[in-house]
Amino acid sequence: MRLQDKVAVITGAASGIGLEIARTFAREGAKIVIADLNQAGADAAAASLDPTGERALGVAMNVTDEAQVEAGMARAVAAFGRIDILVSNAGIQTVAPVEQFEFAKWKQLLSIHLDGAFLTTRAALRTMYEQGSGSIIYMGSVHSKEASALKAPYVTAKHGLIGLAKVVAKEGAAHGVRANVICPGFVRTPLVEKQIPEQARELGISEEDVVKKVMLKETVDGEFTTVEDVAEAALFFASFGSNALTGQSLVVSHGWFMQ
Ligand SMILES: NC(=O)c1ccc[n+]([C@@H]2O[C@H](COP(=O)([O-])OP(=O)(O)OC[C@H]3O[C@@H](n4cnc5c(N)ncnc54)[C@H](O)[C@@H]3O)[C@@H](O)[C@H]2O)c1
Repeated sequence: MRLQDKVAVITGAASGIGLEIARTFAREGAKIVIADLNQAGADAAAASLDPTGERALGVAMNVTDEAQVEAGMARAVAAFGRIDILVSNAGIQTVAPVEQFEFAKWKQLLSIHLDGAFLTTRAALRTMYEQGSGSIIYMGSVHSKEASALKAPYVTAKHGLIGLAKVVAKEGAAHGVRANVICPGFVRTPLVEKQIPEQARELGISEEDVVKKVMLKETVDGEFTTVEDVAEAALFFASFGSNALTGQSLVVSHGWFMQ
């Protein structure tokens, strides 16, 4: 087992990519803290990993709320004694052209992706620095590297996460803390299912064409990336055996973006 008794806090882990990372880390021996918006969703995900509650904990945490993040991270440490891995994964998507984008929606998206990453990182680092070790993984996107129409705040936020990861890599090095970014292509989670009809409306094309001609057009094989693919990349970053791998971003996208 590659993560035996490591403690992982994963935000947005009641659904989609975060939930699959939680499953994969649990299978590899980690104790898991599922942090998500509501307690019931977090508890259900935690119970699906370990019904006894001994190795999985659900925590209600809006990652944009400083007090909730501080309290949630404190609960994680109280329950499991340490934090070895933080996966800052919680996110949303909102699509609209820039000239029509509502300011409130712009701020909401930046706050969830960037404030959420900052607040959870800050809280985790205090514990990781005391331990002298830790791994922080940010859920970026191909949109950390590339732009798409209709996604101004998302592309802005996902590019920003790479900057944050590089700073945390530099500051964390002296304390044995690594920071890296995963950049997935399109994965069929609720976040993507919701935007297929939205993009079809905005672009005036069919939902099938949104999938084929927008989402998967630049891939080498017309395939979606899967939650399992992304979880494997997270496991690679989380379990890497030395501090050599830090400040990096890894694209998992069926060749949509090549670097
Ligand atoms: N699905 C994709 O194609 C794709 C591609 C690249 C990157 N991503 C990124 O992966 C991450 C997970 O997305 P997903 O596709 O699994 O979506 P999802 O909608 O399945 O899951 C997102 C989770 O985040 C939670 N969440 C939302 N706002 C929150 C908040 N303020 N505080 C705490 N939790 C909150 C939701 O409750 C949900 O459980 C996001 O950061 C997303 O941008 C997704």
